[in-house]
Amino acid sequence: MEKTVLITGCSSGFGRALCNEFKDRGYFVIATARNVMKLADVKADLKIELDVSDERSIRNSMKLILSEVTGIDILINNAGYSVRSAVEEIEIDKLKNMMDVNVFGTIRMMQAVLPVMRKHGGGRIYNIGSISGRMTGIANGGYCSSKYAIEAITEAARYETKDMGIEICVIEPGAMDTDFFGTLARNSDGKMKDPDSCYRKIYERDLNFRSRQAKSDVQICAKRLLQINEDKKLKVRYTIGVSWIYRVFTIMPDGLKEWAVRRFN
Ligand SMILES: NC(=O)c1ccc[n+]([C@@H]2O[C@H](COP(=O)([O-])OP(=O)(O)OC[C@H]3O[C@@H](n4cnc5c(N)ncnc54)[C@H](OP(=O)(O)O)[C@@H]3O)[C@@H](O)[C@H]2O)c1
Repeated sequence: MEKTVLITGCSSGFGRALCNEFKDRGYFVIATARNVMKLADVKADLKIELDVSDERSIRNSMKLILSEVTGIDILINNAGYSVRSAVEEIEIDKLKNMMDVNVFGTIRMMQAVLPVMRKHGGGRIYNIGSISGRMTGIANGGYCSSKYAIEAITEAARYETKDMGIEICVIEPGAMDTDFFGTLARNSDGKMKDPDSCYRKIYERDLNFRSRQAKSDVQICAKRLLQINEDKKLKVRYTIGVSWIYRVFTIMPDGLKEWAVRRFN
């Protein structure tokens, strides 16, 4: 019987690519987005409005989904975005909103879907973290902290649900060619282009780095997640589209890492 996959944040980027790949491989795909109109050309069996920062929206969408399907085999918590700046200059409201999507949105979705999975004897949850959940970049403390949180939430929930036939893991992509960097620029560049900021030099380096940063093809990254889903047992974490240099960063001793981040980031 075809397996059902529910994906958040499908209006663009990785979410959209995942819908298309899962659909092509014969899954029953439930694509969700804050604005369902943005799902017009996404391949999916069900297209549902869902804002992960809004509990009522999650309740309503779950009602709709469960009137159409009996169970959910796979949940992919993909919705997320980034706001950048030095810690001293982080706008708390912007940080709260980002945490509400990246962290609390992931928890809310797990709370909504885990009972359904338990009722059907199991399931899989992929929480989309980031390589930024394993290494902290300059001017990126806010976003990195949200992705470090995903690591902890994933591990805890994994241990808690292991005996229920549920497998949970974190997917850690490197830079992917999506709308992510456009959203990041819209959220952050006002502050990062402030000529009076005492972090101006750091921001200039970040803006310059971002403009030349290599980014993976998102469709290839989506295919990789499908491959992972074929594993009999899921590992705790998988990197996707991460260059060797960033993998090395994650295992460096702190002193060397500090030197390397300040030198190359
Ligand atoms: N691209 C990268 O370099 C990269 C690297 C590592 C990890 N990631 C992670 O990968 C995931 C997908 O990002 P992406 O690269 O595909 O970026 P993207 O193209 O900007 O997609 C982000 C998606 O999240 C959705 N979203 C934002 N707020 C939402 C909310 N409140 N409720 C539901 N959906 C919401 C957006 O929908 P709207 O259209 O409604 O805004 C959009 O569909 C994110 O978790 C991101 O942190 C990305």
